Amino acid sequence: MAKFFKSDRRRPLILNPDQRASQSVFGLERDEVHVWHASLDLPEGAVSDLERSLSLDERERAARFRFAADRQRFVSGRGLLRLLAGAYLGCAPAAAPIGYGAFGKPYLAMRSGPEAIAFNLSHAGALVVFAFRRGHALGVDIEQLDCRLDVSQIAHQYFTAQETADIMARSTQERYLRFFEFWTLKEAVVKALGKGLTLPLREFDVSAIGEAPYQAQSLWLGPAKLCLSVHQFTPAADYVGALAVSGGAVRLVHLDLRWMRPQGWEISPFHSPGGIGCYS
Ligand SMILES: CC(C)(COP(=O)(O)OP(=O)(O)OC[C@H]1O[C@@H](n2cnc3c(N)ncnc32)[C@H](O)[C@@H]1OP(=O)(O)O)[C@@H](O)C(=O)NCCC(=O)NCCS
Repeated sequence: MAKFFKSDRRRPLILNPDQRASQSVFGLERDEVHVWHASLDLPEGAVSDLERSLSLDERERAARFRFAADRQRFVSGRGLLRLLAGAYLGCAPAAAPIGYGAFGKPYLAMRSGPEAIAFNLSHAGALVVFAFRRGHALGVDIEQLDCRLDVSQIAHQYFTAQETADIMARSTQERYLRFFEFWTLKEAVVKALGKGLTLPLREFDVSAIGEAPYQAQSLWLGPAKLCLSVHQFTPAADYVGALAVSGGAVRLVHLDLRWMRPQGWEISPFHSPGGIGCYS
C-alpha cells in the first residue's frame, strides 16, 4: 500500500465522480497489478452520481436492460470503471476514452506502448472486480460458487481430461470449489487474450495450478505460444477469482473501493475473507 498513492497521504484517499484531475492520482508501477473490489449494489445517490459520467452509448445500453436491478448494476459498474480510469489517466471520468476490440474487450484508447494502461473487469452477483496494469494485457474473472450446477456435465463438455479427472476425484463440497477455480482460471486466460473463444478452452490445461492457499504460477499456452502469470484470490465468501497477466511476474495490490456518504469513494486495502463455502 505504501507506494500506491503518489503522495504520502495519511488520510484515506477519496475519489469523486465530479473530479477534474489533470494528472494521474495513482502510481502504477510496471511490476504491479491493481485489483479493485467494489459492490454494485449502491444507494440511489451514488448510482446517479456515477451515471453522469456515462457516455451516450453506455446510457443506451443501460436503457436496454429489462430489469431495473440489472440496469442499476450496469450503470454502477460502468461509472466505477470510468471513475478509476479517469484517476489513472488524469482526466474526468466522463472523458476516459473507453474503446472496444474486435471481440468486445474494452480498452483505454489513449497512449500505446509500455506506458499504456490495460484493464479488464468481471462482475458476479453484486460484486465487481477491476484489474489495471501498465503495458501488458490481462484478464480477470470472478464467479460465485453455485452448488446447483451440474459440474460433471460442464467439465466433460469444456474442460480437459486432466481437469475433469481432478474435479471428479473430490468430495462433493471440494468438487464445486475446484470446478470454479478452473472455470475462473480459464475465463481469465481467455479474457487476457481478448479473442473470445478463438482459443478453445480444452486446448489449455490449468489442472497443475494449485488450490488454496493460492500462489502465483506460470502457465504456458502452447497454441498461443505465450506464457502467462496466473493468480487466484477470494473476492468474498463463496466467490473465487483469477487473474491472468502477460509480460512476466507481477505483484498484486488488492484495493477496496467503498461509497462513503457524503464524501465520495473511499479507497482502502482489501482484505480477502477466509471462509469458502458454497452458495445454493
Ligand atoms: C467475455 C466473457 C469472457 C465474459 O465472461 P463472463 O464470466 O460472462 O462475465 P464477466 O463479468 O466475467 O466479464 C464481462 C466483462 O468482460 C469484458 N469483456 C467483454 N468481452 C471481452 C473479451 N473478448 N475479452 C476480455 N474481456 C471481455 C467486458 O468488460 C465485460 O463487462 P461489461 O460488458 O460490463 O463491460 C464471456 O462472455 C465469454 O466469451 N466466455 C467464453 C468462455 C466460456 O464459455 N467459458 C465457459 C466455462 S470455462
